[in-house]
Amino acid sequence: MKVTEVPFYRQSFGRQEIAELADTVKSGWVTTGKKTHLLEAQLAEYLGARHAMAVSSCTAAMHLILQAAGIGPGDEVITTPYTFAATSEAILYTGATPVYCDIDYDSLNITAETAEKKITRRTGALLPVHIAGLPVHLDGFVRLARQKKIWLFDDAAHALGAEYKGRKLGTIGDASAFSFYATKNLTTGEGGLVTTGHKRLADKIRLLSLHAMSKGSWNRYAKGGTWRYDLLDLGYKYNLSDLHASLGLAQFAKFKALQQKRHRAAKRYLKNLAEIDEVKPPLVEKDSLHAWHVFILRLRLKRLKINRDHFIMELNRAGIGTSVHFIPLFRQSYYRRRFKLNPKDFPNADRAFHEAITLPFYPALKTAEIDYVCGIIGDLCRKYRR
Ligand SMILES: Cc1ncc(COP(=O)(O)O)c(C=O)c1O
Repeated sequence: MKVTEVPFYRQSFGRQEIAELADTVKSGWVTTGKKTHLLEAQLAEYLGARHAMAVSSCTAAMHLILQAAGIGPGDEVITTPYTFAATSEAILYTGATPVYCDIDYDSLNITAETAEKKITRRTGALLPVHIAGLPVHLDGFVRLARQKKIWLFDDAAHALGAEYKGRKLGTIGDASAFSFYATKNLTTGEGGLVTTGHKRLADKIRLLSLHAMSKGSWNRYAKGGTWRYDLLDLGYKYNLSDLHASLGLAQFAKFKALQQKRHRAAKRYLKNLAEIDEVKPPLVEKDSLHAWHVFILRLRLKRLKINRDHFIMELNRAGIGTSVHFIPLFRQSYYRRRFKLNPKDFPNADRAFHEAITLPFYPALKTAEIDYVCGIIGDLCRKYRR
């Protein structure tokens, strides 16, 4: 197989996805219903979570968690600046204030040690992110949350299928938020999930996710449903539809196989890249199982004559699709303006950002494509070696 280009992402959709979607369309019921509830039940069982609520996105999931936990104006939530906008947006929607920790340079994750230094009387919750699907060291966070009597939530957008010390993510803190966005390990097109062991939190999240309408009103237009409902609180329109859930059901049926392919791809990348001294492959840790959502390569800039942007241009010229996870929040206009963030206060995150290149990575990626990408990286490193 002669490879000349490798797209950044390619879906793994097949007959199952089409059949599930067609079945839903034919049924005539396309909004939240049986399929959404089936997906919730399957994911709850897979994760070992007591409660699982499917919602319209991970952003919505995090907003609902914080809102249901009573986080609001005057509260601080400790999190990372090395993430997508969503993590901070969810905090800000509640009126609370995000407080940012620098990351650990190797893992790209925040640690309980740095989070502890940011604790004040106002801290209401910790919200770490498992970047790329590599679990944060949750033991420290659990200890810190217990000791300070604050909530521990995690942004597990990248982390479906990840484990920490033999336990699946989504069952360790007080509540977790997953993403089913188009490129995530399991996709519903757009979608998300909350898991929690707290019944009161789960009940509140369920209520708030559909306009805070009294129980059972999701099926008010179905036979046997009732027209009467009561609005119990200020709710949101954050429910997941059966159309979205059908895609998720088909994806979940092959989730194990999809994850195996991601692990195989990661192994191949790691083997090939170990031979190139100018790059730093992503960290793998002994006490956790990586979800391998994205593959973030780092350049050892001191060994190269070109910077990351130039390197990306060269990769793109060779037909290789790339991205960067992440442009930290302290380099985004709104966050700089509002919170007076300065890159100098986050030396690890800023250094990592300047080195990071996200490579093509997905279950449908072929071995020959990985070898092509690594071959080009090797050629570029030889050409631009210092
Ligand atoms: C770390 C992180 N958190 C949250 C989200 C938001 O997910 P969603 O698009 O499902 O709201 C993303 C999206 O890519 C993400 O990367």
